[in-house]
Amino acid sequence: MRVKLLIGVIIVSMGLPFAQAAKYYDRSREAIDMRTKPIGRVQVLQPETVEEPATTAQATAVATPPTDAQIYQQYCALCHVSGVAGAPQLEDKDEWEKREKQGEEVLLQHVVNGYNAMPAKGTCMTCSEADLQATIEYMLQQAGL
Ligand code: HEC
Repeated sequence: MRVKLLIGVIIVSMGLPFAQAAKYYDRSREAIDMRTKPIGRVQVLQPETVEEPATTAQATAVATPPTDAQIYQQYCALCHVSGVAGAPQLEDKDEWEKREKQGEEVLLQHVVNGYNAMPAKGTCMTCSEADLQATIEYMLQQAGL
């Protein structure tokens, strides 16, 4: 009998802390939310993929394709100012006169496909045939033709 009583006391006393805990364990929604809320938040900042142009002037600058003069300055002048590898110099009117006699179509094809020491498209790989045609006309005009 004593042993059973002792076991009973032990069981009851073991259960007590749980009962006590349950008593103070607030099960209200707010209390649970408080205990389970995240301890922090991670916010991944994405770099802007498309940069808004600050002004309309800038937007126009981006949208405007390069002009014949700009193409000449950026790609063709390198050889045609100083006459690198036998390139006709821009101001050499006589030389350009001879070349113009071949016809505009031949000149264009020579520039598009490359001609002797001149690389294809005069190195302007993004230029269209129309761009190159306009640049040739610009060069002939600059040469005084
Ligand atoms: C790497 C140097 C180089 C660059 C860059 C270059 N050229 Fe030339 N270009 C030459 C040379 C060299 C010749 C002469 C080829 C020959 O007659 O043997 C030439 C010739 C020409 C001719 C005359 C072709 C003919 O049939 O007589 C035209 C037109 C011309 N270039 C336009 C351009 C234009 C337009 C650009 C830029 C988009 C350009 N070139 C860029 C070297 C260059």
